[in-house]
Order: sequence, then structure tokens, then C-alpha cells
Amino acid sequence: MQYTWNDIEQHVMVCRQCPLSQTRHLPVMGRGNRQADIMLIAEAPGGQEDEQGIPFVGRSGEILDRLLHDCGLDRKELYMTNIIKCHPPGNRDPKEEEKDACFPYLKYETFLLKPRIIVCLGRVAAQRIISPDFKITRQHGTWTVRKNCALTATFHPSAILREPSRYESVKADFCEVVKKHALRY
Ligand code: URA
Repeated sequence: MQYTWNDIEQHVMVCRQCPLSQTRHLPVMGRGNRQADIMLIAEAPGGQEDEQGIPFVGRSGEILDRLLHDCGLDRKELYMTNIIKCHPPGNRDPKEEEKDACFPYLKYETFLLKPRIIVCLGRVAAQRIISPDFKITRQHGTWTVRKNCALTATFHPSAILREPSRYESVKADFCEVVKKHALRY
């Protein structure tokens, strides 16, 4: 059976596949342009995302919007989602079993979107999507091609909040994404 975006969203909204469903406030389905060529995949909703049910509405979202703006991109041109759709208490890293339980949703999102470019934001997303031994500090900004889709990773915006000097290198990674997109990779 072929799922639709609505089907996925409805499943996410009532999901009880892992214990995070008992502590979350709202699940956070991916958002954005469902015709986009570019898909951003981050780690997990933060506290504000948990309150509002929308990805990247907190401080990381502000940084992300600044990065996109500085590279001439806009949220309207992207689809953004997370590896897991529920906020882990205390912002801890998602557990393997939580990532496994949530993975079908990401698979369906990717299947329906068919992005040409996937940008992983942070180590957790890069290790799940690109390679389990991906080293974000050494390998951010590098590219891999898989099934007609170019994949890359950069630091998570929260890493810029912790270390503002990272801004320029993340911006450079995003600007490469814009260039690849313009070349209709
Ligand atoms: N951090 C994430 O990884 N995802 C969000 O949606 C918000 C903050």
C-alpha cells in the first residue's frame, strides 16, 4: 500500500511506538515544501518544538533561519524533519531503540519527497543517514551520492549556539548546498 503525506502525519500524531510518547507534549512531524529538492534532517525536537509541534521554532531555528538567509535560501524551499519525532527529556541524545522505532516515518517522508539533496544537521543525523562512523568535525561539508541523491552534513545549529565561531564554516557548508542545487546536481 502506498502511504500519503496525510497518512504519515496521522500516524506520527498518535504514535506510541516508543516510551518517548509518554513524556512528549506534541510529536513533531517534518514540515516545509513537500515538492522541495532539499531535505534537512536534524536530530530530535527541542523543548519549544515539543510545545508547538513544529520543527525548528526555538533558538536553533533562529540560527538556522539566519544561515539560510545568508546563503540565499528560504524555509519555503526546503523540507525539514528529524530522525525522531518526539522530544527526548532533557535534550539527551536519542537512544538506538527510539531511532529504530521512528525510522519508518523518515523513510516514508524521504520516499514521498524524493529529495535531490539531503543535508544532515549534526552528528546524530549524519551517523544514522550517511555512515555510522561519520565524524562531523572532520567530515562536515563532504558529499556522498546515493540513488540519485547527494548527501552531506554540517554541524547542528545548536553547536553554533555553544560555539559561535563555527557559524562561518556552517555557512560555507550551506552555501555549497545552494551551489549544488543551482547546478541541478
Ligand atoms: N533541534 C533539532 O534537532 N530539531 C528541531 O526540530 C529543533 C531543534
